[in-house]
Parts: sequence; structure tokens; C-alpha cells
Amino acid sequence: MIRGVIPGPSFTAANYLTNLFRLLIGERLFKPLVVSYCITAHCNLNCRYCEDFGARRNPSLETHALSLADAERVLAIIRGATDSLILTGGEPLLYRDLEALIAHARHKLRFRSLTLLTNGLLLPKHEGLLPHINRLVVSLDTVDPDAWDQTLRAAPGTAQKIIDAVAVTARRQSEADFRLVIHCVVTPETLPVARDVLDFCVEHNIIFSCSPQSVNNWPRYELLVSDEYLAFVAEVVDLKRSGAPILGSLPYLRLMLDFKPYSCYPLLAPRVMPDGTLAYPCRPIERGGTAHGGRAVNLLDTGDWEEAVKSATHLYGPPPLTCGSCYQQCYAEPSLMQSRPLAFLREMVAFSPSRRAGVHNYVPG
Ligand SMILES: C[S@@+](CC[C@H](N)C(=O)[O-])C[C@H]1O[C@@H](n2cnc3c(N)ncnc32)[C@H](O)[C@@H]1O
Ligand code: SF4
Ligand code: SF4
Repeated sequence: MIRGVIPGPSFTAANYLTNLFRLLIGERLFKPLVVSYCITAHCNLNCRYCEDFGARRNPSLETHALSLADAERVLAIIRGATDSLILTGGEPLLYRDLEALIAHARHKLRFRSLTLLTNGLLLPKHEGLLPHINRLVVSLDTVDPDAWDQTLRAAPGTAQKIIDAVAVTARRQSEADFRLVIHCVVTPETLPVARDVLDFCVEHNIIFSCSPQSVNNWPRYELLVSDEYLAFVAEVVDLKRSGAPILGSLPYLRLMLDFKPYSCYPLLAPRVMPDGTLAYPCRPIERGGTAHGGRAVNLLDTGDWEEAVKSATHLYGPPPLTCGSCYQQCYAEPSLMQSRPLAFLREMVAFSPSRRAGVHNYVPG
């Protein structure tokens, strides 16, 4: 057996094939390739552009966070639908019982792909987690500590601690058997230094990914009209083709360049909120507060995932037919990989970072 791989058939592959068939017959109720569970809304940082979480919005650590037993029940329902899980937040490293929850997800529920998405500040206190996850994603937009402190709105020295922790953690990848990815949000302010993040990744054996800053779920306007932004993404595409460690499919990177409309399938990568509610059909529409989405369905009150989705579609209708306003990798990447099987195949065959770090279930959000 390959180290770290859980034996048995892969749910994600089965779901991918089922979805392909559903796509052919014009069905939109897809099975998830991955589910993101925001285990806490609380955060220890306050990033300038974060529209969802951040310390200023959720000052209490306990905001809607479930007990360990209830969080385990939520994971059991998710596991009935997919074997790929992303634990995110807020800041997931603040969840009191994270070690126990991850051990349960890995060893009792046997998730095959387990990702932690974090700002990285508390990594040194949680090194014991590393052998239990497959993928660690740390958010970092610049390796200039002063600039990063300003984006994080944190005390001077905070960014340096994060950068140091990332470098130390990167060295443990082989022994603890996980992949480290940096997710870089491209903003007009950090655009001139985004390339340095990629160089840092190359130096430390880390995989690089990026997506444009969004404002109200649209790409930030200044990026759309910026030649510097276009040049940066074009350079990322060239570097990917020449073998640089970049996680982001060619279709997604092209989307970052031309922002053409695409068909988004939000049920491929659903979000579960800290209290166990399903953000249906996606976080942006649910937050919009219209009749097309909401959080009325709690996984804790349902028998299984199918039942939760059925209740949600009954309440809010099916997911949208034509929507593609968000260009975040978290929804666009799985949608593109699902609807373009040949492009997906090419990613897996031709680009080892996409294969090693799992581009089809990569949803940093
Ligand atoms: C909301 S955070 C939650 C996990 C964790 N606190 C972190 O920062 O990695 C998830 C991801 O969303 C990204 N993000 C937050 N606000 C964003 C925005 N306005 N546009 C694009 N990405 C954003 C963050 O950089 C991070 O990679
Ligand atoms: S992006 Fe992550 S670290 Fe920054 S405020 Fe939002 S939740 Fe916190
Ligand atoms: S593009 Fe996708 S994630 Fe964004 S609002 Fe539309 S359906 Fe939701």
C-alpha cells in the first residue's frame, strides 16, 4: 500500500463519473467532489479584504462552533457523500478540539483526502496534526513581513512568525507525508510582490496557487483593468508550462486572464458553516439573502447528505443554471475540471503539481 493512502474505492472518482453522466443528461444536482467545513467563524487575524470572517466580525471563539461530538456527527454526514474534506474557518487552528476532530476524520471516518486551510500563525502549536492530513494550505500573499502585517492588520512581527512557521513546516512534508500549498490572493497592492511568493515556494518545496481578490463576489475592478495583473497571470501560465510548482489548472488560469463567463456548479464544492448548516447552493448566494439560497438546512437534523440537499432544493429551488460571477478558485476550479474531462486528464498527466496536490478538489476558500 502507498504510504498515507486509505485502501478501498475512491468516492471522489465515483462522484466525478456520476457527475459526468448527469452533465450529459442536463442534470445539475451534482455529487460533491469535496466539502469544506468552516469549523469556526472566529479568527485571530483581521485581513483587510476578508469579507466573511475576521476577528472584527466574530469576536467570540465560541460563535456557533459545535461541540466535538456534534462536529463529528456533521463529518459523518459529509463522509456519506464524499471522501474529500477541507477544514477551514475563520481560523480552524482556533477550534478547541481540532486534534481530536482530525484524528476522528482520518482514522474513524477514513477521509482519503484531508486538507487544512489556515493563516498559519498557530502552526507551531499544532505540529502533531501534520501526519494526519494530506494537504496543508497556508494563505500568504507576500513574503514581505511589513506588507503582510499591514494586510493582516496585525501587530508588527506577526507576519514574520507566519513566514518562519511555513518554512519550518515545509521541511516536514516528506517525513509527515503531506503536501504544503501556499494560496496567494492577488490584490492591486500586493501584485508587484506576488512573484516573490512563487520564488519562496520554489525555494522551500511548496506548491503555489493564486486567485484574484474578490469584492462582493466579483473580481476587484482594478485588477480587471491592470496590465500588470495580466502580465503576472500570463507569467504564471508560462512558468506552469515550464514545470514550476503551480496548482491551478490551465483553464482556471485562463479564466483569471479573460474573466469570460463559465458554468459554475456550486454543489461540487459545498460549504458547511460552523453550526452545521449547509450554505446552499453556495456561500455567495446564501449570503445574498434572496429566495434562491439560504442556510435553513442543518446537517445535524438530517439523516444524510442526499436528504439535506433534497430539503435545500425543495426550499430554494435547484442551483442556478447560468451563473459565473465569482472567479474564486474555490468554485471555479472544480466546475472547470468537472465539465472539461479532457482538460482534467491533461492536468493529471502533464502537470505533476496538479496531480500531487489534487487540482479537482482544490478549493481554497
Ligand atoms: C476565509 S479564509 C479561511 C481560512 C484561514 N483563516 C485562512 O486565511 O487561510 C480562506 C481563504 O479565503 C481567502 N480570502 C479571504 N478574503 C478573500 C477575498 N476578498 N478575495 C479572495 N480570497 C479571499 C483567504 O486568503 C484564504 O486563502
Ligand atoms: S482570510 Fe482567514 S486569516 Fe484572514 S481574516 Fe479571513 S479568516 Fe482570518
Ligand atoms: S458563480 Fe458559483 S459560487 Fe458564485 S454566486 Fe454563482 S453559483 Fe454561486
